[in-house]
Amino acid sequence: MRKGKVREHWASRFGLILAMAGNAIGLGNFLRFPVQAAANGGGAFMIPYFVALLFLGIPLMWVEWALGRLGGTKGHGTAPGMFEMIWKSRAAKYFGLLGIALPLCVVIYYTFIESWTLAFCFYSANGTLSQMANAHSFHDFFNGYLGGNGYTAAYVFFVLTVLANLVVMWRGVSGGIEKLARVAMPMLFIFAAILVVRTLTLGSPVPGHPERNVFNGLAFLWNPQFDRLSETKIWIAAAGQVFFTLSVGFGVISCYASYLRKSDDIALSGLSTVTLNETAEVVLGGSLAIPLAFAFLGAGAVTAIAGEGPFSLAFVTMPLIFKGMPFGQLLSTIWFTLLFFAGITSSVALAQAAIAFMEDEIGWSRQKAVGAISFVIFACGNLVMFGPGVLGEIDFWAGTIGIVIFALIEVILFIWIFGADKAWAEINAGADIKLPRIVYYVLKYITPIYLAALVVAWTAQDGISVALMKGVSAGEVPWRWGARLLIAVILGALIILIRRSRHLKKDEAHSHG
Ligand code: ALA
Repeated sequence: MRKGKVREHWASRFGLILAMAGNAIGLGNFLRFPVQAAANGGGAFMIPYFVALLFLGIPLMWVEWALGRLGGTKGHGTAPGMFEMIWKSRAAKYFGLLGIALPLCVVIYYTFIESWTLAFCFYSANGTLSQMANAHSFHDFFNGYLGGNGYTAAYVFFVLTVLANLVVMWRGVSGGIEKLARVAMPMLFIFAAILVVRTLTLGSPVPGHPERNVFNGLAFLWNPQFDRLSETKIWIAAAGQVFFTLSVGFGVISCYASYLRKSDDIALSGLSTVTLNETAEVVLGGSLAIPLAFAFLGAGAVTAIAGEGPFSLAFVTMPLIFKGMPFGQLLSTIWFTLLFFAGITSSVALAQAAIAFMEDEIGWSRQKAVGAISFVIFACGNLVMFGPGVLGEIDFWAGTIGIVIFALIEVILFIWIFGADKAWAEINAGADIKLPRIVYYVLKYITPIYLAALVVAWTAQDGISVALMKGVSAGEVPWRWGARLLIAVILGALIILIRRSRHLKKDEAHSHG
């Protein structure tokens, strides 16, 4: 950060918690979670999910809050600077580059998906969706929107979404992000609650099929299939969902935490963020899409939908269901507005890491950083829009395996290199609750071992076949290589910027301890 420049802070604790909740609560809660749960054994999925939440998610949340607050005291909002503070090595800042590259790669495709929710909000409100006849028409409409009928509409909504993000980021942390969260988060909970109440009071919506009711839908989602607990794949999927939903392992929680004051509590606030996120995910997200699909379309269809992934569920199945409900047009508009709020409060957080890096370490003004990063998102978004397979390729490397590797690096550096006792003192400084000592041992032993096991298991399960592009259609191969090149270019550009950063070099000379 440039000399004389005052770093921003959150305006209030309430605003900070809502912003952190907005950071975590996203499309992952309402789309990814129900599909992951239904596709991985319903209730069986929830056991590894809660284990991962306890031993990975919550500890990592505290690590990232503590790292972030520590970094913020020296004007570092991103991992390169934070890692230099805890590890006296020339290599430290280069390990930190993932904490900028991963969220930047993810926000490129995330903003594109977010733009679909804005578009479908519009198509719900103007009655286009309610005129569709059946599932085929919804499918055709969605595919047409994504390029089948030309890209004009998708392009327009993508540009609008990039601009909406730009406006929020332009206004800064407390003036933009915090203010957005103060409006969007309560609205999101209200909208989700309206939809859940409507869902739970539906009864059996299909005449002649009393068994197709929401409660059987909930049972479908929650009844454990214990025989599937031995499948490694389910444990990996559950851990992946915990990472994605809490936004840990991206470097974005620590970035938001860098705008805390030195004496601010992190133990209780971090836990509050997790609680809000899990309420949105398990209670609200889990009570909507899958139970509704079950009640309207039956168990067989739900399995098929879960296999098709979250987008079909959001953009084909849900509009189809709303069509069959009283006030369907309104409910459909509420659904897509909910998704848009969930999306934008997360996308500004994902982009904030790169913006903070340009501001803090390169010395750019906020406006210049926001303009540049918005342009990168827009320009690279074109590759995602036009290139088949690009979204999936970036999602695997950055949004799946990358975050687990980065989380492992964070924990090793903070707990083992910085030192478990110092890390524990950091987490507890200014704390409004007393964390039980068991958490210390979880952080020291269980979390790193769990993460290392995940990296190995993930590489064995998917990494090699994805790296070799096994099963990828010939048409997608060049695009997927393009996606890899894009990731490589982002990493390369960051290495150059990190080398050039005067603020980081200064820290190298005066190492911290
Ligand atoms: N945590 C964000 C989500 O769930 C990225 O969508």
